[in-house]
Amino acid sequence: MRSMPASVPREHSNNETKATQDRAISIVEAVKRPAKLQTEAAEVFGLVFPVFAWRLPLPVRNFLKNRKKAAGYSFAVATCEGEYGDVFKEAAALYSFDSCYALAMANNYFLYPWEDTSDVHRRQLITAAQAEIKTIAQRIRMRASDPPPERLRGPGAALKTNLIGPVFMATRSDRKFFVEKAKCISCGLCAENCPLHDIRLTDGKPVWQHRKCVHCCACIANCPVQAIEYGRQTAGKPRYILEKDLKRLF
Ligand SMILES: Cc1cc2nc3c(=O)[nH]c(=O)nc-3n(C[C@H](O)[C@H](O)[C@H](O)COP(=O)(O)O)c2cc1C
Ligand code: SF4
Ligand code: SF4
Repeated sequence: MRSMPASVPREHSNNETKATQDRAISIVEAVKRPAKLQTEAAEVFGLVFPVFAWRLPLPVRNFLKNRKKAAGYSFAVATCEGEYGDVFKEAAALYSFDSCYALAMANNYFLYPWEDTSDVHRRQLITAAQAEIKTIAQRIRMRASDPPPERLRGPGAALKTNLIGPVFMATRSDRKFFVEKAKCISCGLCAENCPLHDIRLTDGKPVWQHRKCVHCCACIANCPVQAIEYGRQTAGKPRYILEKDLKRLF
């Protein structure tokens, strides 16, 4: 294995990424099946992760914790909706990356009414990201040492990452998630996709366990029949999955 861009969708796990010719493994898969992942033997180690509340999502943090720096070259790419705060400082305390990049993507946090989920907005963001990805991949191929970009860091980064972010995450809860039983086809994807094992199937239907939910939206976004809702505010709202939008909007 040469490099390990993580947090890629399930269907892309273990795939060769075209732009950097590295092997991509999903972080969620790697955390669930640690035997598959031997980053210590890699020449290049890359971490691609989404920013949650200006911080590393809990599963990403757990994944990075205690990971030895052995690769000759390492890079981190944060995907965010618009502000990554001091996430690279948080990451650097766990792993010293040689190069850091940030990429604006569509917002996958659609649980609240004010988020712009329109096709026009998503198409714009994805189009801009496709161009930016080429530049980032080129820097990675050159084994560049780039500091985190100022663009997308946003104002008040330290306050957001160290204070507001932890409070925000600590107050997330799964209690407003529910399933419309008549729609549910009992495929089990919601339970399988939850990185925190917070969902169990009872009589084929999801039951949230009120353990640690990080509001990653994997359960609600990936349900093939849109049977999961979060309170009243998600009814009829388009879900966001990059792979589906790539096929649908382009
Ligand atoms: C719980 C949660 C918190 C988020 N917090 C932030 C944030 O602080 N800043 C930001 O720019 N984007 C934030 N986002 C948006 C995601 O980072 C962004 O939509 C994601 O990286 C998109 O990646 P993808 O296109 O690969 O799914 C958050 C998303 C979720 C689910
Ligand atoms: S992903 Fe949707 S259809 Fe499948 S079990 Fe969960 S709620 Fe039911
Ligand atoms: S939003 Fe859904 S998938 Fe994500 S942690 Fe919470 S219960 Fe699990």
